[in-house]
Amino acid sequence: MTLGPDERVVPMRLQKFLARAGAASRRGSENLMTAGRVRVNGEVVTELGSKVDPAVDVVTVDGREVRLADEATYLILNKPAGYVTTMRDPGGRPCVAELVPIREHPGLFPVGRLDRDTTGLLLFTTDGDAAQRLLHPSFEKDKHYVALVRGRLAEAEARQLERGVTLDDGPCAPAAVELLERPRDTRPVAPRGVPEGMSVVGLTIHEGRKHQVKRMLEAVGHEVVALHRDTFGPLTLGDIKPGSWRELTETERRAVLAAAEGERAHG
Ligand code: URA
Repeated sequence: MTLGPDERVVPMRLQKFLARAGAASRRGSENLMTAGRVRVNGEVVTELGSKVDPAVDVVTVDGREVRLADEATYLILNKPAGYVTTMRDPGGRPCVAELVPIREHPGLFPVGRLDRDTTGLLLFTTDGDAAQRLLHPSFEKDKHYVALVRGRLAEAEARQLERGVTLDDGPCAPAAVELLERPRDTRPVAPRGVPEGMSVVGLTIHEGRKHQVKRMLEAVGHEVVALHRDTFGPLTLGDIKPGSWRELTETERRAVLAAAEGERAHG
């Protein structure tokens, strides 16, 4: 089992706990500690590296207890190829549940799915209500994919995708299309640059139909050899290593919730 770098959710550093609990900023929390205003189980703790277990330790600031809000968890995984997007595979195939901290966050599940051979950004949450809104077909937030395809994508084919191709389950909305050449852009699907006789295509869509990107590229004559997603609405994968995850920052969490709220307003 591969664990993310931040798997050690429990115990956590006291200043992080204080900041998360809203006692002060991270720096302000350190100041509270060094000023001797913070107690853990009745003992003053001034050492900045000290850890607490939020489930059992009682933390006070100036005698008043501070607690973590019982917030939903949001995290993003850089899904490697070969993992099925499910929390349990009756067939025993490797599944994404093995890569995320389900013991610390019971109820965690993926928002949407990536194919077994697709890599990249997969959002997980314990917030079923927000997830439902983010999965609604009218959630029109951009998702950016990088695809390695057989053959050279012609200008006319790119224009066809931009106008919107029609698949067997109906027309697709127009996509934004770019031909990628620079190794730093092709890296997720072609680390050593674009192979001979192939293309790397950047595709932005806002729908989420089954195998949509593969089917769109096939509709213009190109088989997808590798597919990677690097953005999902307001979220960007960044440099999370394949198989690792991180929790959303407060800014990202707010952006996701705002996007989900927008969905409630429209839906
Ligand atoms: N489109 C696909 O074809 N596959 C994915 O995994 C995601 C989008």
